[in-house]
Amino acid sequence: MSSLVGQHIVLGITAGVAAYKTPALVRALRAASAEIQVVMSTNAKKFVTPTTLQAVSGQPVRDDLWDAKAEASMGHIELARWADQILIAPATANCIAALAQGQAYDLLTTICLATEAQVVVAPAMNQRMYLHAATQQNLSALERLGYQIIDPDHGEQACGEFGPGRLPDPEILIDALTTPTVDPEIASVFAGLSVMVTAGPTREAIDPVRFISNHSSGLQGLSLAEAALNAGAQVTLVAGPGVPACNPAINRVDVISATDMHTAVQNNLHGVHLFIGVAAVADYRVAKPAEQKIKKKPSDQSHLDLRLIENPDIIASVVDSDQELVVIGFAAETHDTLNHARDKRQRKGLHAIVVNDVSDARIGFNSPDNATTFITDNAEVSLPRQSKLAIANNLLQQITDNFGTELAGLKDS
Ligand code: CTP
Repeated sequence: MSSLVGQHIVLGITAGVAAYKTPALVRALRAASAEIQVVMSTNAKKFVTPTTLQAVSGQPVRDDLWDAKAEASMGHIELARWADQILIAPATANCIAALAQGQAYDLLTTICLATEAQVVVAPAMNQRMYLHAATQQNLSALERLGYQIIDPDHGEQACGEFGPGRLPDPEILIDALTTPTVDPEIASVFAGLSVMVTAGPTREAIDPVRFISNHSSGLQGLSLAEAALNAGAQVTLVAGPGVPACNPAINRVDVISATDMHTAVQNNLHGVHLFIGVAAVADYRVAKPAEQKIKKKPSDQSHLDLRLIENPDIIASVVDSDQELVVIGFAAETHDTLNHARDKRQRKGLHAIVVNDVSDARIGFNSPDNATTFITDNAEVSLPRQSKLAIANNLLQQITDNFGTELAGLKDS
């Protein structure tokens, strides 16, 4: 199971009895570190209150396509773009029928029609309604349209009948979100590909209690590692301090300093086809970290000198290795962004570089969002502001488009 860290999830709630279970679902999604926007149908409010859902989701609930105030802060088309995934739970027979026909009669159905995100539908209703040929035909139509359907649980129902139609537990619903479907072209390149990603900051010791580091959260690197895994790759993640937990199927190597990261990369490089250096590696380290805590100087000495020496350039060492592989770097810049990145790509001999402007707090270090430009020697593609997972999936698309043939050749050799 992949994590949902930083993912934007729209939770659509329609008017089934099982709507009373959704506050627990929202809490489970938040515990998985997803960002949630609840969108309710009008009648769903008869089963669970927007107040409760606002309290557990931490966001005002959206329920009206015509709410001028809510639309002014994030319009329904923006919300459709914001979503990495949409989960409709419970989905009523009525909602399923409307989606199957492409109707956009309320906020939720409109968002579903306007989104590029994966829509996951969890039907929950009376067992006869669920088994009715009309509902089954509508569910088949939704599958053909690319919706993902989660089968309901079988058992005793609120109405006293027995059969399929119960809303599955939150863990089952979250499992469906963590294994999103992959574009077949991307899957054909990434299936069986060996990918190494570096992520997060490094820490360079000053003494046993202090260090030099930076603001990198590691979220963009983590998202890339998880997107590559989900696309079928074997992934090694070399993670600096503070990078959030990842899917256990990823071969994760935790490191602290740039020299540790360099060693970990070299030790695991054999057989790697694609290297993506996302880590914000410290360029310098303290020449001689003190073995004991440095004590404050007497007041007549108002400065402290630290001598810094250069760290190994990890990505340059990968480019210089004997191994044939595709190497992609990242550039976090604060000014003259594109020029610095173009220059860096050429100087380091990279196949491509992904640049972002870290001076913009909405997309920089520690933000769940990013906006980047993917630069190769003959193309530059801008990816507008979106979640770091969406950026990761778009980067897999760029890598597939630009280096798919080369990677397929490396895999076969
Ligand atoms: N990088 C690396 N090892 C280093 C420094 C950077 O592997 N010692 C990698 C980063 O992971 C990233 C790319 O090089 O993929 C660019 O990193 P950046 O810090 O932007 O570049 P620098 O070469 O350090 O240039 P500057 O700090 O002058 O912008």
